[in-house]
Amino acid sequence: MKAAAKAHTNIALIKYWGKRDDALILPMNNSLSLTLDGFYTTTAVEFQNSLSADRFYLNGRLTEGTAYSRVTAFLDRIRDVAGQPDRFAEIHSTNHVPTAAGFASSASGFAALAAAATKAIGLAPNEQELSMLTRQGSGSACRSIYGGFVEWEKGTEADGSDSYAVPVAPADHWNIKVAAVILSSDEKKVLSREGMKRTVDTSVYYPAWVASIPDDLAAIKDGIMAKDFEKVGAIAEANCLRMHATTLAARPPFSYWQSTTISIMQAVQDLRAGGVPAFFTIDAGPNVKVLYTPEYEETVRNTLRHISGVHDVTVTGPGSGVSYI
Ligand code: ADP
Ligand code: DP6
Ligand code: CO
Repeated sequence: MKAAAKAHTNIALIKYWGKRDDALILPMNNSLSLTLDGFYTTTAVEFQNSLSADRFYLNGRLTEGTAYSRVTAFLDRIRDVAGQPDRFAEIHSTNHVPTAAGFASSASGFAALAAAATKAIGLAPNEQELSMLTRQGSGSACRSIYGGFVEWEKGTEADGSDSYAVPVAPADHWNIKVAAVILSSDEKKVLSREGMKRTVDTSVYYPAWVASIPDDLAAIKDGIMAKDFEKVGAIAEANCLRMHATTLAARPPFSYWQSTTISIMQAVQDLRAGGVPAFFTIDAGPNVKVLYTPEYEETVRNTLRHISGVHDVTVTGPGSGVSYI
């Protein structure tokens, strides 16, 4: 009744932003991501007969509040599927990624938890079933089941049975680089869940966001298969800007950006003006990921490092899917 798993985070190139069903976590739009080698979570789960409630330790600390209730609610799903409603677990999870800072800790966190918990309780889901289950912990997490480039199909069924991730191209398909530019590891004020809900409910730009997805998605998949870096980068950057624009039109309006976020975006656009193909994308937080190809490593890294307000630049690349440890 014990298992441990490791899962990497992913960076969305076409963002998941908005749910059509909050409880089942069914998205409004398909999304597409790259699983990242450098950032991951390891989680160990042990179901114990002596426990009358779950105990969840994150980075060595016993949690309570929202972080705890999200985990127990997710384990309730797994207990339900396993037909073992009264078995509780002790969970130890370590994030090798900043928590709740826009680095997709919820993606690596729930993917690792889903893999470890299902195994510990005696289930043996295939990857598609695991992705579908993982989705119900955190939407972006369903993509971290697979390595490389991954699409989350929104599905059309009301019960979510056709909403899961599918692999687009494996990690070794294309060696592109991702520089994670860290200006703040503070927890965000508006969690992804709350931010996307407010946007769906109140932003006048939201319908335009949803309408823009199919073209982006078709074009970026062509670009990935053809290894057309400029095409993939340009679509990802434009998609990111469109997602963040929706938050500015929400009521009350909000933004995940800080002043340094904008400095980094401008530096990347300046690199391009100088002939270096680099593109940025930003999830729900102030930190920026910069995409580039290996031959520009020196230039990109040096440029990013010297921007005022930047604390750290970590270079990574495509990573693998979930694994047991
Ligand atoms: P992020 O950008 O880090 O994904 P989110 O707002 O999407 O930020 O999610 C952060 C939340 O994800 C945390 O507040 C916590 O509830 C949950 N989370 C983070 N890491 C883990 C983990 N290792 N195991 C379970 N839940 C986690
Ligand atoms: C901006 O998957 O963290 O990173 O499903 O409510 O847990 P919940 O939200 P989450 O949202 C991720 C939003 C995003 C874009 C993306 O990863 O696709
Ligand atoms: Co998240």
